[in-house]
Amino acid sequence: MPGPTSTTSSVKTQELIHGHILHWLRQQPGNDIESIDYDDSLFDMGVDSMGVAEITANIETDTNKTLIPEEVYELETINELAAYVDRLRPNKARNNGAAPAPTVLDAASDPLVANENPLEHYARLNRRVNNLKEQDLYFFEPVISDHDDAWVVIEGKRMLMLGSYEYLGLLGHPHLKDTAIAAIEKFGTGHHGVRLLAGTTTVHMELEARLAKFMRSEAAIVYSSGFVTNLATISALVGPGNCVIGDVWNHASIIDGCKMSGAEFYEFEHNNIDSLAEKLELSDGRRTLVVVDAVFSMDGDIINLPPVIELCKKYNALLMVDEAHSLGVLGKTGHGIQEHFDLDDDVIDVKMGTLSKTLAGCGGFVAGKEEIVTYLRHHARGYIFSGALPSGQASVAIAALDVLEQHPELVAKLKANQDQFLAGLKALGFDTAKSVTPIVPVMTKTNDITLAMTQLCRAEGLLVIPVCYPAVPMDAPRLRTCVSAIHSPEDIDFALEVMGRAGKQTGVI
Ligand SMILES: Cc1ncc(COP(=O)(O)O)c(C=O)c1O
Repeated sequence: MPGPTSTTSSVKTQELIHGHILHWLRQQPGNDIESIDYDDSLFDMGVDSMGVAEITANIETDTNKTLIPEEVYELETINELAAYVDRLRPNKARNNGAAPAPTVLDAASDPLVANENPLEHYARLNRRVNNLKEQDLYFFEPVISDHDDAWVVIEGKRMLMLGSYEYLGLLGHPHLKDTAIAAIEKFGTGHHGVRLLAGTTTVHMELEARLAKFMRSEAAIVYSSGFVTNLATISALVGPGNCVIGDVWNHASIIDGCKMSGAEFYEFEHNNIDSLAEKLELSDGRRTLVVVDAVFSMDGDIINLPPVIELCKKYNALLMVDEAHSLGVLGKTGHGIQEHFDLDDDVIDVKMGTLSKTLAGCGGFVAGKEEIVTYLRHHARGYIFSGALPSGQASVAIAALDVLEQHPELVAKLKANQDQFLAGLKALGFDTAKSVTPIVPVMTKTNDITLAMTQLCRAEGLLVIPVCYPAVPMDAPRLRTCVSAIHSPEDIDFALEVMGRAGKQTGVI
């Protein structure tokens, strides 16, 4: 029987992988397998995509190497897998256990194969994308050619949008469009440069005043994107010698900002206050920033903020909350997490938000005390060295705030839609994880099922978004769905019908 060999890979790696595969196979119900050969096909052994995910994760832990899923799928035998693992370079030491920032499709960090030509390297990383395209299973960047309310047209097909972060349905609102057009007529399409030099207009000043008031803060600063807001703000507030602590499920822009800051970076277990306390203990009197999402963008659950606030006070840590998915969503009038928990105005030191979701435009902001905002204006590099948000875009956010303030019933409508959708999915038997907001993950068990469900839904005119590793943990692939205030009850019934059929056909329910 073919066993480990030392020709193509080390016997140690072969045996390690053999052990993990045998262990996984024996855990499968009804599988009393005694032995496997090193040259048997993994597929014939019954290693499915769940198995590949679990075995890969174990190999990564044991070897401190990062395997690329699309490459692992192409390897047929234990010996081939071992040879592949041996060719990878070990990862650099991680920063206090903080996870690397994931990219969309390929593995998190860059396991350069020794002496590989850079172009071959990128081509290798593109292989999974190309495979998906060949099989008609590439669902990223669907191109929208038209839209009307909750419906979009993609490749000539009209589809119900169930993956938008545009929570209140303001994207086509006449007040927003008219305000933007008026600002473009007055100030032109772009800007005269960065904000501190020649880029600031009266529209920026008005927007910052409006945001400060809306967020019940002393002042606000607007950046050209939400992503840049997190990078620039976090890396300005803390640096080498300080500490930054974040929930492990925080958005990538927060994680990247924490890493970029050069501060000691700790992650605490998701929404776990004891774990946060442990990390704060490690801060040991250093200046410390705690950063959390208000609503987690992949799972739709809410941070349990009151005890986080108490701990930050106890340890004299600054608290920053990302309100990307809570503004316009949480609280009776959509003022976000502060209203949701009925908090005092100044318990959150740094209130970060984006203009690209509920506010139906583009850009990001921070609201807080005057000292913090003035400091950021003169120290946040992504503000100082990046062109101003164009006035047309800044004016969209002002108009969206007008609508939100004048029509709190939109927030109630969003909540009603969320309740209808979540209850409908649960009645059908879907697992919606921890969702309590308009972001609803529909758990799909395996990557293959996720893609199959996406395909079935889209064929019936329902635009859902597949999310697999590394954007979410390997064992938690899902369709990420979002409802909006613009959906009608009939739209939601349609979505439920289509998802119900696709769920049954793929065995999810
Ligand atoms: C929680 C969170 N923060 C920040 C961002 C970045 O915002 P933007 O897309 O406006 O750059 C996102 C984007 O999806 C997000 O989900």
